[in-house]
Order: sequence, then structure tokens, then C-alpha cells
Amino acid sequence: MHFAAPAASQRWHACKSWMVARASHASSQQAARSTQQRPPPVRRRAAAAAASGEESEAAVLSCVVGIDLGTTNSAVATVEGGQPVPVPNQEGSLTTPSVVGFTADGRVLVGAPAKRQAAVNPKSTFYSVKRLIGKDYEDVQQDAARLAYSVSADEDGFAVVDCPNLEAGAGGQLYPEEVSGYVVGKLLAAAEEFAGQPVGKAVISVPAYFTDAQREATVTAGRIAGLEAVRIIREPVAAALAYGLDAQKDQTVLVFDLGGGTFDVSLLEVGGGVIEVLSTGGDANLGGDDWDAAIMQWLVEEHLKPARVDCTDPRLVANLRAAGEAAKIKLSSEERVVIRMPVGGGIEAVLTRQPFSPVLCCPLRHRL
Ligand SMILES: Nc1ncnc2c1ncn2[C@@H]1O[C@H](COP(=O)(O)OP(=O)(O)OP(=O)(O)O)[C@@H](O)[C@H]1O
Ligand SMILES: [Mg+2]
Repeated sequence: MHFAAPAASQRWHACKSWMVARASHASSQQAARSTQQRPPPVRRRAAAAAASGEESEAAVLSCVVGIDLGTTNSAVATVEGGQPVPVPNQEGSLTTPSVVGFTADGRVLVGAPAKRQAAVNPKSTFYSVKRLIGKDYEDVQQDAARLAYSVSADEDGFAVVDCPNLEAGAGGQLYPEEVSGYVVGKLLAAAEEFAGQPVGKAVISVPAYFTDAQREATVTAGRIAGLEAVRIIREPVAAALAYGLDAQKDQTVLVFDLGGGTFDVSLLEVGGGVIEVLSTGGDANLGGDDWDAAIMQWLVEEHLKPARVDCTDPRLVANLRAAGEAAKIKLSSEERVVIRMPVGGGIEAVLTRQPFSPVLCCPLRHRL
């Protein structure tokens, strides 16, 4: 079990004071909050039972889930008959964007609703926080420069995100694990609805190279979401198990995982029911986000700058990022995509697989 070590405990205390501060902010905004932020009834029942010291029927039935807390997308699964069953979220999707948005009127949006409003609320909408979680501010400079929101250091030098839509009384900042806590909370609510029972425990996957601080911060995210126990599993091990690998058979396996934010390669030794990570490699700063950024850069250099469009506007940057990702995904199934930008009197860019692959993505492909 990876509960918080001293350094993480301090951060957890800091997080808790944040939660208290934000709770007072939240209570004044309660009516305006979206229902998805409230604990589902079954969760409230279990919490009430725990507070009264009684072991409720709900607590007895409490189930365990597996959570993939990804840089761009997250997912949750329960186990039925020994088999993992992916759980659809409140929007009916099996994946939930790892995005949290704080609106000016005090609501907290999580997942697709948060992603949809990112372009109009870029400074208070947080994505890719997995790149920041459990890290020092000094170590996230490169990532922070590419984000639409701003990142600062707390008094101990840990990275925090600045949230203008949090009232000044609530400090206006959040730890990355608090942001992730909202994502985990949404997944848990979906899992509880799906399973019809409370979820008190979870296994969360993290990259094999995550440091202790990053792992502990991930555990903290789970605890913030209300989990009483969180175990950590390494992503390549989870991938190997999901692939159906026979852990009894002696074999050496290489796992490639090109995700939203990272490209991870792991060498596994399997046998006797044990899967061991022998070594990890890859690139912690290479993922689908970089392909989106490459398209965004191309739009700026080839189409917007020549039309003298101010490309420093955060709303435009967020819009271009979304347009870049949509174009990239479309190019997986189509030869050509038209990107329309409602700036500079209306600008259209045509991207085909041909320039996309060799010209835009060559430097990225070389890194694979
Ligand atoms: N059809 C598609 N074609 C190309 N890219 C896609 C497609 N569907 C999703 N993607 C991209 O895959 C990436 C997300 O992958 P995934 O969900 O595995 O990442 P993640 O688990 O969030 O990240 P990580 O594992 O690095 O933490 C995003 O960049 C997304 O744009
Ligand atoms: Mg992943």
C-alpha cells in the first residue's frame, strides 16, 4: 500500500487546507454547482455510516475498481466474474478526458463538459496535469510553457496550477493531485452508479518510471476523491495483463505505450505468476499532445502569422489545440482534413496525410 510518506503527507495537509478553503467557497456556490460534483446517494450513505461508526450494508458490499488515470484520458473498470468490465461515464463514454474546468459562476466541470469549454475558459481549465503531478516547479518549466493555464510554485517549491476562477479566499491555486482528484471522483461516481454499490478501494495505474513523489501524489488524488485505500500498478504491467498475457509462462515482453503525454517502453520479465519490470525507457515528453502541438505550430506559422493574427490570445491557443487534435484523429481514417478558423476574417487550412506525416511529424517520429 502506498500511503503518503512524510513529504507527501505535508502536501496532503496542504491539500486538505485547500479543500477546507474551497469547501467554504463551494458552500456559497452550492446551488450553482453541477450535480456531478455531489457525492452520489450511495456514497453519502456509506460516509454517514462511517461517521456513525456503524458498518453499513453499503460498506460491506463495497467494491474495488481499476483506474487508468491518463494524461489526456482516464478510464475506470470493475471486475465481474474475474473479468474487467469498462464502465461508461455519465456521458456514456468509456473514456473521460482528464480535464477539469472551474467556471466563473462557481461550477466545477469534469471530463467532456470541461474539455468543451476549455477554449472560452482557458486559464481555469486544467488538462495534462499528469505532467505536473508530484513534481517540483523547477522541473516542469518546459511543460508549463506549453499549457494554456499558468503554473506556479507553492512555498515548498512544488508545482501548483493557478485558477483565476477560484475566489481569492480559496487561494486561487490547486495542486495537480486536487485536479486529478476531481477526475477520479467522476470515475468513482460512474462506477458506483454502474455497480450499484460504493467504491472504497481502487488500483490506479501509473507510468513505470514515476518517482515515489509522483506515485504518492497519485494516491493522494484517490484519497481526495474519497477512496479509503489506493494501490498503485505500473501501466505496462496493467497493459500486459489486459492483453491477456499468461503470467505463468516464462517470457520476456516489450510493451510500447504511446499515450497522450508520454511514450513509454518497458521490458517485462514474466513467469511463475509474477510480472516484473526489468527496465523502462521512452520519452516522458512525447505523446499525442505533441502531434497536436505540431499541427498547432503549423497553423500558426503557415496560416495565422501571414494573416497577421495575434497568436498569443489564450483562447485562440486553446482553440487551435482542440482543432489540431480533431484534425489528427480525423487523419487516422481520412486522407484530408479542412481546419476552419474563425479569425482574420475566416481562415481555412487543408491538411493531408502527406505533409502531416513526413514534414510535420518527422522530428516526432524520429523520437519513437
Ligand atoms: N483515432 C486516433 N488517431 C490518432 N490519435 C488518437 C486517436 N484517438 C485518440 N488519439 C490520441 O491518443 C492520445 C490519448 O491516448 P491515451 O488515451 O492512450 O493517452 P493517456 O493514457 O491519456 O496518456 P498517458 O498514457 O501518456 O498518460 C491523445 O493524444 C489522442 O488525441
Ligand atoms: Mg495511458
